[in-house]
Amino acid sequence: MSDISLISGTDHGNISTRGIRVWDLPVRLFHWGLVVGVSTALVTGFLAEEWYLDIHSWAGYTIAFLISFRLIWGFVGSKYARFASFIFTPKETIGHIKEFARGNSAHYSGHNPAGALMVFTLLAVLFLLTVSGVIILGGQENLGALAGFISFEIGAFLVEIHELLAWSLILLIIAHVAGMIIESRISNENLALAMVTGKKKDTSSEPITMSVSTIALRAVVIAAIVGGAGFTLYQKYSAVPASGLVRLVPNETYNSECGDCHYAYHPSLLPKSSWQGIMANLDDHFGEDASLDAETVKSISAWLNENSSEAWDTEAANNLREVSPKSPLSISETPYWLLRHSEIDKNIFKQANIGTKGNCVACHSDAKTGRFDDAAISIPPPKPNT
Ligand code: HEC
Ligand code: HEC
Repeated sequence: MSDISLISGTDHGNISTRGIRVWDLPVRLFHWGLVVGVSTALVTGFLAEEWYLDIHSWAGYTIAFLISFRLIWGFVGSKYARFASFIFTPKETIGHIKEFARGNSAHYSGHNPAGALMVFTLLAVLFLLTVSGVIILGGQENLGALAGFISFEIGAFLVEIHELLAWSLILLIIAHVAGMIIESRISNENLALAMVTGKKKDTSSEPITMSVSTIALRAVVIAAIVGGAGFTLYQKYSAVPASGLVRLVPNETYNSECGDCHYAYHPSLLPKSSWQGIMANLDDHFGEDASLDAETVKSISAWLNENSSEAWDTEAANNLREVSPKSPLSISETPYWLLRHSEIDKNIFKQANIGTKGNCVACHSDAKTGRFDDAAISIPPPKPNT
């Protein structure tokens, strides 16, 4: 029974043994949902391998949903959920922080001025993080809702800002948790627990008066609208073909002639000059004779020229455009390639099911499309020697 009152908060007498209800359920769900979403985004952003990018971006979309919900709830939610209940003047805020530093704190039923400042700052930083995140995803990776609209350059430009924001977020979280612990001590009230139960034991608090059914109805309607609008926009815009991807007309001659000894390299992986160099020296092709008749050379050259890295705006094409001055015909000698594969043990490339560095398809299941998405990377497990 007591658990039910915890969830539904049916404290008609307003003062129950557990305390005064101040945080409505949507505020609490928002808060702890955000904790899960932000932790997931931070861990996958800072620590996980790149192929967790999927989880990272879904954590981001979840955060965007939660903060959109919270923005609306700040106007129509119950008493202490409303922004109006915790807008303080700079003077009040500074006064509160000064008192707080001296170890005193006036009682606030809802957010105190420092907590309020934290709420607004966190919402702003999270808003900027999700917006920059979607732009980067669309620009750099050609994925997500903005894949069709953002150039690689813009995406790459925002990466550092996104990182800076993420570091600021970590500092804010530390300050938020520290402030909460100190304030809990001063006020002799476990504020983290209050965010779980929704109740403060301090009986000088005024309880919320909005009925549980009104809260539930409003929250469900808002969640449905925000979620529905978000999903519709996502569906609509992510259906736009990614910008920067050329509609490649497959070349059967290329696939058969150049796919004979190795994977037929995607034309976006080298610039024109390198493809021309390769096509002009087929009789001495990396120590092999790969000569073709003049007609075939001409047709393959033309196709490669037309679809070389200059024509693409993918992450791979943008980065691999700069070739090694020493071996300008090689993809696996380009500075970017070496950088991105520097942590892979050399012996892995010699594994029976990989063979050479140039066997991109062994580890990149989308190598044929030229995308080289993070989610499509996986090093095959070693095959026992037979
Ligand atoms: C007779 C076999 C053979 C044929 C046919 C062949 N290649 Fe190669 N190619 C090789 C070998 C061997 C290497 C160097 C080893 C490696 O990276 O796999 C190589 C490497 C390459 C590389 C550099 C890969 C890297 O790791 O940087 C490119 C690009 C390339 N070939 C393009 C072509 C093109 C274009 C054609 C068709 C005109 C072609 N190859 C046909 C054998 C061949
Ligand atoms: C042994 C497996 C393996 C082979 C073979 C391999 N790669 Fe990779 N590649 C990886 C791994 C693993 C990463 C991710 C490295 C990281 O950032 O942690 C990667 C990263 C990349 C990236 C960056 C992807 C991104 O979006 O950040 C590109 C581009 C790339 N590889 C291209 C190539 C090309 C082109 C070839 C063939 C010439 C190739 N790779 C061969 C394993 C491989």
